[in-house]
Amino acid sequence: MDHFEYRDGALYAEDVPLAEIAERFGTPCYVYSRATLERHFRAYTEALGSHPHLICYAVKANANLAVLGLLARLGAGFDIVSVGELERVLAAGGDPAKVVFSGVAKQEAEMARALEAGIKCFNVESRPELERLDAVAGRLGKVAPVSLRVNPDVDAGTHPYISTGLKDNKFGIPVDEALGVYELAARLPNIRVSGLDCHIGSQLTELAPFLDALDRLLVLLERLREAGIEIEHLDLGGGLGVPYQDERPPAPFDYARALLERLAAWPGGERLTLLFEPGRSIAANAGVLLTRVEYLKPGETKNFAIVDAGMNDLIRPALYQAWQRILPVDTRVSRESATYDVVGPVCETGDFLGKDRDLAIAEGDLLAVRSAGAYGFVMASTYNSRPRPAEVMVDSDQAHLVRRRERLEALWEGEALLPEAAD
Ligand code: LLP
Repeated sequence: MDHFEYRDGALYAEDVPLAEIAERFGTPCYVYSRATLERHFRAYTEALGSHPHLICYAVKANANLAVLGLLARLGAGFDIVSVGELERVLAAGGDPAKVVFSGVAKQEAEMARALEAGIKCFNVESRPELERLDAVAGRLGKVAPVSLRVNPDVDAGTHPYISTGLKDNKFGIPVDEALGVYELAARLPNIRVSGLDCHIGSQLTELAPFLDALDRLLVLLERLREAGIEIEHLDLGGGLGVPYQDERPPAPFDYARALLERLAAWPGGERLTLLFEPGRSIAANAGVLLTRVEYLKPGETKNFAIVDAGMNDLIRPALYQAWQRILPVDTRVSRESATYDVVGPVCETGDFLGKDRDLAIAEGDLLAVRSAGAYGFVMASTYNSRPRPAEVMVDSDQAHLVRRRERLEALWEGEALLPEAAD
């Protein structure tokens, strides 16, 4: 459920008409709904009930400070993958003690900053990373809390670019090697073993791969126990899918219930803190990309609706052939209907937001690309020297600008002309 709905033919974000937002802030523009973000976050905390847990929102999905700030106020933790994301979390008032640090390429300076900030856990993805972390922590006189990200080799059944839990992915430590790396972790002087982690992919629409992964992790936990290595938390990553079109992914409640059932059958399972790193399932359907039709270009084989947002603003359709719903903002006006490819201004054939869409539109009309709250703005670029769009957060009947449209001069800030040749 989200808070983008038609009222008398006009599309609203909560109690604000999207047309009003376009008028005030211009297009293209990302619009987020506070109530939807909060609702999606609470779906997790309520699903887990009294079982010890921490929901670490995956900052990469939508890193706007307003988004992070409102989740922090709800008690969220954060899953970060860079020092940049850590600084964002801190700037938004997030609690470093609730931060987990994922990613395959953590640099020394990033480790040092995270240690200094006092994060909850490093999700370590390889043996050399573990050794580096031990050295950095030793130099700082700190002990690094660690969880190993294990690759359970399960097929998440999702797009190959966003599948991460298979043997041939770069992520995690193969499950068969994990015991050896844990034994090393337990011996290293500046490392404290704290958890066990996995993340098998994104936009999963079935529970089975999650449960298979959990089963494999529980086998490993058993072996760790036998080796005298105690684990305090189990981090199952993110990955729960969302409905973009007609997918019916499990709700957090069903997901949590299935996991808790398995855990209950496992001795000591009720004491194991569960961590999740959801990104998409919190943010995707809490946002739309608002864009205006510049031209309608009829063709022999195709009609094009050329809009002012392009692949640089929202790259998912171009990069993953992702399908996102495209809705007219005002359906009260009478328009002729036709089938369009909705394309952007960027000079690339791959620059489309949607293909073969039946739309009743005219030049100047506004369109809303749904499900754009996750992996939308964060993946935007300035290709073709197009400034990145504004971001607006709606809270009931108020619309707040939470990031102003990038200024043109910002595009070449930091660049320099070559000095005149001295001949
Ligand atoms: N934890 C880790 C370690 C991850 O790598 C990811 C996502 C998440 C959590 C959050 O997963 P989520 O709950 O959002 O599925 N740009 C792609 C998605 C890439 C996901 C990368 N990792 C897209 O637009 O579909």
